[in-house]
Amino acid sequence: MQLLQALREATGPLHRRLDDAVSEQPIESPSGYSRFLSMHAEILPAVEGWLLRSSEFASLPDSRARLRTDALRRDLKTLNLPIPATRDVSFLNDESSVAGICYVLEGSRLGAAYLCALLGKSDASLPTAFLRHGAGRSHWKTFLGWLTEQECSGSAVERAVFSARQVFDSYLKALLEQDNNRMRVFGTS
Ligand code: HEM
Repeated sequence: MQLLQALREATGPLHRRLDDAVSEQPIESPSGYSRFLSMHAEILPAVEGWLLRSSEFASLPDSRARLRTDALRRDLKTLNLPIPATRDVSFLNDESSVAGICYVLEGSRLGAAYLCALLGKSDASLPTAFLRHGAGRSHWKTFLGWLTEQECSGSAVERAVFSARQVFDSYLKALLEQDNNRMRVFGTS
């Protein structure tokens, strides 16, 4: 699985940075959880909106059933959180790789399942429509099956890696800026 291997190698360090950054605040706390959901809400709607216009995305099994923007917005509403303005995702264009982008989004479900289990073991009473979205539907497995059918020429792998890194970078920036803004307003992160 050349494409998967390349994506894993190229984004592993970014995933670790993001995981560390998210984990700086306990996910079981209302503030840590809000921070996590708001980070997703700055990116996911714009990226999913772009994917919906792509015929390549439509070839992914159950493509529409994978969209999590509505579930995310439901959780934000339950927590009385504003829907943040979406970040600039202008790196998404004709040259962007659906495979690279979906790798990041679909992979984030694996982390979501882990976080959901953490919440389940805590006393936290937090809405989990986003984290639970697609549970039991083998989305990761069918995504990997689809990925093996995608073009894996040198330039296709390069585009996939570039797009995946850009998505991870956007998440990291969203989290960092949220923390900086909170620091400015409340004098604490
Ligand atoms: C505290 C936050 C997070 C934790 C604890 C976490 C944890 C995990 C775990 C446990 C896995 C599964 C590893 C395995 O089964 O081999 C995983 C996979 C993955 N996560 Fe995360 N994750 C977090 C956030 C995110 C976010 C926000 C994204 C993307 C936006 C993301 C993207 C991915 C990707 C792409 C994979 C697939 C790796 C692969 O198997 O190729 N994760 N994560």
